[in-house]
Amino acid sequence: MATDPHAWFDHDRFGMFVHWGLYSLLARHEWVQHREQIDPDEYARYADVFTADRYDPQTWAKLAAEAGMKYVVLTTKHHEGFALWDSALTDFKATNTPFGRDAVAEFVEAVRGAGLKVGFYHSVIDWHHPDFVVDGIHPLREHEDVPGLNAGRDQARYAEYLHGQVRELLTNYGEISYLFYDFSYPGGRGGLPGKGRADWNSEELMRLTRELQPGIVVNDRLDIPGDLVTPEQYQPSGPMRRDGELVRWEACQTINGSWGYDRDNLDAKPVDLLIRMLVDGVSKNGNLLLNVGPNGRGEIDPPDAARLREIGTWMELHSASIYGAGPSELTPPPGAVYTQRGDRLYLHLFSWPMRHVHLTGLAGRVRYAQLLNDASEVAVTESDPHQHAQNTTPGGESVGTVTLTLPVRPPAVAVPVVEIWLTNDEASSKA
Ligand code: GLC
Repeated sequence: MATDPHAWFDHDRFGMFVHWGLYSLLARHEWVQHREQIDPDEYARYADVFTADRYDPQTWAKLAAEAGMKYVVLTTKHHEGFALWDSALTDFKATNTPFGRDAVAEFVEAVRGAGLKVGFYHSVIDWHHPDFVVDGIHPLREHEDVPGLNAGRDQARYAEYLHGQVRELLTNYGEISYLFYDFSYPGGRGGLPGKGRADWNSEELMRLTRELQPGIVVNDRLDIPGDLVTPEQYQPSGPMRRDGELVRWEACQTINGSWGYDRDNLDAKPVDLLIRMLVDGVSKNGNLLLNVGPNGRGEIDPPDAARLREIGTWMELHSASIYGAGPSELTPPPGAVYTQRGDRLYLHLFSWPMRHVHLTGLAGRVRYAQLLNDASEVAVTESDPHQHAQNTTPGGESVGTVTLTLPVRPPAVAVPVVEIWLTNDEASSKA
């Protein structure tokens, strides 16, 4: 039986997203050129001050590995159109700046060297390219003569350029495991037309992508179906479906709402929330792609680095409940979620209960239970449903329920987890 080339994605569950480009210098969100309607020629001047003197992808990769992430996805080109690699198709690139190096080549080597998988983000939008037709989200969208600006712009010629750059990226840097294209907006904005599959020649681009990298995972933002769906900055309420069919999915999330470095934005999510987002995703059969936005010098913001290390501390003890795990058919108690991997059921307690937690549907199916962080035993009892509550004796729970007795104080971990060993026949039914 042919093995699924994308099985690694379902197993690994946790990746790092890296948004880095000229917008990191402006340090006020990766859409700054759009927001401030900066003319492309004026914006291009930032390339002259792109020194990135602290760019060290080894440190990025090491941090990702420490956090328990298994793949890293870099913005090779974002909407601003600046190429982080030595593209033969443009002068608007990292090798044409004071920095003067191929950042993608060094990134790929570092990530592979850390034993992680390499992914590329590539914007199909390009606000720098002279053939990219000005539309509803373009920085020049409010120019007094948009039709005049677009006279002579040839979107098909831009699509050739797009395909040419993708060919470079998928030919010159070895095996690429994930391609995150971004994004289509066929509906249009601000009374001006949008762009979709025809503007990118998407079917051909997808064919080219798979021809050059047969095992690659490709996302769903070319306005044609991909290998997964990519909810952004929200957590789905359950396993995701397309036309009723369960689909592979990955939530891409920021730490503070901005993908690119945003100096004055202090709206960072607390670490335990980031961990709960990861766990929540796995419990619904999804992955988490957690973003960092290095600053203009190429350094991951120290507070973000500290957050990733804290996630790593939790993953160090609890990754068994994440890697290779997925949803359970069982219904968790309130304030908790389940992830399951074969005969191991992981109860993630988002709120620590007073002494007891009751698990429905598990009577006769539990071999053993322990706190995952220190393997300390957790007592499991099956109460008699007819038991009357009397003083310190709790009343019986509904038929089929088991009760775990927990210590009063939660273990000193961001999200406490009870590992439940299910009976073998349970394992065989799950396998
Ligand atoms: C959205 C944002 C874009 C970001 C991407 C990441 O499309 O507009 O800036 O790179 O999401 O998923």
